[in-house]
Amino acid sequence: MADPRPSHASSGTMRSLAIPAYTTPKNYTINSITMPTLSSPTDVLIRVSAASINPVDTKVAAGSFSFMHTATFPYAIGHDCSGTIVAVGDEVTEFVTGDEVFTMLPVTRGGAASEYAVSDASRLVKKPPSLSHIQAAAIPMATLTSTQALDRGNALLEGGLEGKTIFIPAGLSGTGSAAILLARNVFKVGKIITTVSTNKLPLVAQYLGEGTVDQVIDYQEKDVVKEVGQGVVDLYYDTAATCMAHLGIMKKGGTVVSITSMCRGETMDKLMPAPWLIKKFLDLAYGFNSWRVGRWGCKWDVLLTVLDTADLERITRWTEEGKYMPVVGKTVKLSNGDEVRMGCDAVYQGKGGVGKFVIEID
Ligand SMILES: NC(=O)c1ccc[n+]([C@@H]2O[C@H](COP(=O)([O-])OP(=O)(O)OC[C@H]3O[C@@H](n4cnc5c(N)ncnc54)[C@H](OP(=O)(O)O)[C@@H]3O)[C@@H](O)[C@H]2O)c1
Repeated sequence: MADPRPSHASSGTMRSLAIPAYTTPKNYTINSITMPTLSSPTDVLIRVSAASINPVDTKVAAGSFSFMHTATFPYAIGHDCSGTIVAVGDEVTEFVTGDEVFTMLPVTRGGAASEYAVSDASRLVKKPPSLSHIQAAAIPMATLTSTQALDRGNALLEGGLEGKTIFIPAGLSGTGSAAILLARNVFKVGKIITTVSTNKLPLVAQYLGEGTVDQVIDYQEKDVVKEVGQGVVDLYYDTAATCMAHLGIMKKGGTVVSITSMCRGETMDKLMPAPWLIKKFLDLAYGFNSWRVGRWGCKWDVLLTVLDTADLERITRWTEEGKYMPVVGKTVKLSNGDEVRMGCDAVYQGKGGVGKFVIEID
């Protein structure tokens, strides 16, 4: 396929959502930066069609993790992307130019919201024709996270997840919406309880389907513990840092899997090397939270998402089988700076968004 962006490619530059220094979304601009090149024989160059933005992308760009991971500038934002391979390294055998692929780029090599991105071939999954680039770009981090969290719950709960009661706060978030659809259609849970803010109440059935959720609670107006009741929930999948305030809803023998709490030091170390003191601090926080949850007779687990292409392939199969499709709340074009800033800001603030925010690379 002819590259529709030859002028940029031939000049060795590309348009990218890239920042010259740590900053928040209100200051993001679309800049011209050097195109990435294949730096290893197993690399591929992708012409990106769409990228989705996750909270961690905006937090890294704001410098929230600079004590552990120093960005190099200009820093190109984003990790989830879908596009077409335009060049392959000498040792790449499983992909060829023209293949449509999607992936989550590694923490050390972002730049998804750019015209081009480079990835090791081992991190790629082929995009089926049934998924648009926008849908594929919406999948990686949020859906992988929720798949891996539900897998953990399934393994930790006696008898697995089937037929059990699950509480998933933030039902219209990227991770929450993915978890609800997977819990219902793949993991066959018995009852799904969620929370949303007041103005999103009517959107739950619209985006997730009529009857998918059994109980929706307005977390701004209602007392969640009172609404759910004491000792009701088998698995709490904490997507909103709310679990410690809601432990009363847990059944004895239940499990809390959090993606918003401090993980173990060694878990962090696997994602990016962490200084000894930080690992000790993480272990202490993890131990304290584990003790708090343990007092309610429940297990505690904290997940840090890793790219597992086998998981991404399972998710792809579920989309083809009609069991899953990511919720895309808003799509904007990279050339529309104001819309890009606004969408990224909602992700950064953790308020107001619905499903995934996707940037189409026009
Ligand atoms: N550990 C990991 O590996 C991992 C992986 C992915 C994500 N995460 C983390 O998980 C969290 C969620 O990620 P995401 O991608 O799902 O975020 P998101 O799509 O940006 O959604 C966040 C949503 O949370 C809702 N919310 C805020 N406060 C709430 C509360 N008190 N109760 C219920 N809902 C509330 C907001 O909805 P309203 O507008 O209705 O308030 C908002 O739309 C983030 O903190 C992210 O950094 C961790």
